[in-house]
Amino acid sequence: MSSSKPNSREMGIVVRSAVAQDAAFIRSMAVNAFLAYGSYDRYLEGWFDNDAVTTSIAELNGRAAGFSMITAYADPDRPRENVADLVAIAVSKPHQSRGIGGQLLAHALAFAESSRSKPREVWLVVAEDNGRAQRLFRSAGFRLGEGLGIYPAGQRALRMIKPFLREAS
Ligand SMILES: CC(C)(COP(=O)(O)OP(=O)(O)OC[C@H]1O[C@@H](n2cnc3c(N)ncnc32)[C@H](O)[C@@H]1OP(=O)(O)O)[C@@H](O)C(=O)NCCC(=O)NCCS
Repeated sequence: MSSSKPNSREMGIVVRSAVAQDAAFIRSMAVNAFLAYGSYDRYLEGWFDNDAVTTSIAELNGRAAGFSMITAYADPDRPRENVADLVAIAVSKPHQSRGIGGQLLAHALAFAESSRSKPREVWLVVAEDNGRAQRLFRSAGFRLGEGLGIYPAGQRALRMIKPFLREAS
């Protein structure tokens, strides 16, 4: 039975790996989506250039409409285990609420789950008043973690965590 909602292919959404030419798009997104929280123009530029951070671009009908950045490292409290960290995700304002954020998130989670570092779970930080993003993360299986963080510009931030259920090897 076919659904009345168009799927991502029908809508022309493709998620691909970022290339150097995407730097200008990332810079514009840093200003539009994140500057209120701190100097994210500089942070995003540093992450984009960092080989340990995987940046993906969502294109809508061939034009960049959103991006995600995810990395992995040893859990500071359990150094034998790795965790993934979704350091940024954003969709440009005119293209929001079409499922692009959900596509980017699913893509980043699938990448992390299958990565060689075998992260135990995915971490992220989201502003306490960003209910929209929190809803998206909850629908993908994230739950609230312990403690509050503070963004560089002073906003309160929640930690969210999504565990991966792996078979014992
Ligand atoms: C958070 C963010 C990335 C979500 O991106 P998005 O593309 O709007 O996300 P989606 O479209 O997948 O989902 C958002 C909503 O659209 C709805 N939606 C998804 N596909 C849809 C479709 N085809 N038709 C209608 N609605 C749809 C979803 O149900 C969801 O509804 P909800 O907000 O009521 O739960 C985006 O709002 C953003 O860039 N915000 C600014 C940056 C930010 O806050 N980043 C997160 C900080 S960590």
